[in-house]
Amino acid sequence: MRFLVTAGPTREPIDPVRYISNRSSGKMGYAIAEAALDAGHEVILISGPVHLEPPRLAKFVSVSTSDEMFDAVHRHANDSNVCVLCAAVADYKPAEVSPVKIKKRAGGMSLKLIPTHDTLESLGRRRSRKFLLVGFAAETNDVEENAAEKLRAKNCDIIVANDVRVGMESDENEVVILFRDAAIRKISRAPKKILACELVKIFSEFATKVFDKKNETITERN
Ligand code: CTP
Repeated sequence: MRFLVTAGPTREPIDPVRYISNRSSGKMGYAIAEAALDAGHEVILISGPVHLEPPRLAKFVSVSTSDEMFDAVHRHANDSNVCVLCAAVADYKPAEVSPVKIKKRAGGMSLKLIPTHDTLESLGRRRSRKFLLVGFAAETNDVEENAAEKLRAKNCDIIVANDVRVGMESDENEVVILFRDAAIRKISRAPKKILACELVKIFSEFATKVFDKKNETITERN
């Protein structure tokens, strides 16, 4: 199968020297890309800026902003059987990017932010997609409830939810996997590399099950 995996944070520029970002390390996405390659799949890894070496056998696309992530994913999604959107894409970006460094002035300063494109949601809205769509949910509270809401709102096939207090910047993670037919699986705390192997197995089995049914496409849920 062909896997598309996104990983890492995005950077939303404020001016030539400043940006808004988050603490995502990219480890989970890179581990999934590696595990998919080890299982014999083809992988395209679309990554925000991280301090990790991309797997040698993956096709690698480096992006920085949420807009670049959106464009790269849309360019490659149709060539994929499984899209795993693991990246921690910024939800907001500055309404304007200053072409010159913003100078310090007396008093406070406010920044106007506008929403970014939601890549996962836009793929979920595609009417007749031919790939399995997997989202991640990074939560600090009410993990299962929030993840179930994301699965519904973004029309994914699977959501992998994790508590960022366990997984963020760490080599370990603990996840709850929610499927569109309401099934739930939990994988307790383990190194991200081990978790990634389990997840790849689950995604490819699920994709085979879905697509073997007379090569069906996944249709929009109302
Ligand atoms: N995502 C995306 N594009 C965005 C924001 C999020 O594709 N602009 C994807 C992430 O890659 C992930 C999923 O949406 O697969 C959920 O991301 P998360 O940050 O947990 O949720 P949000 O939708 O941003 O909601 P909130 O921040 O309110 O929890």
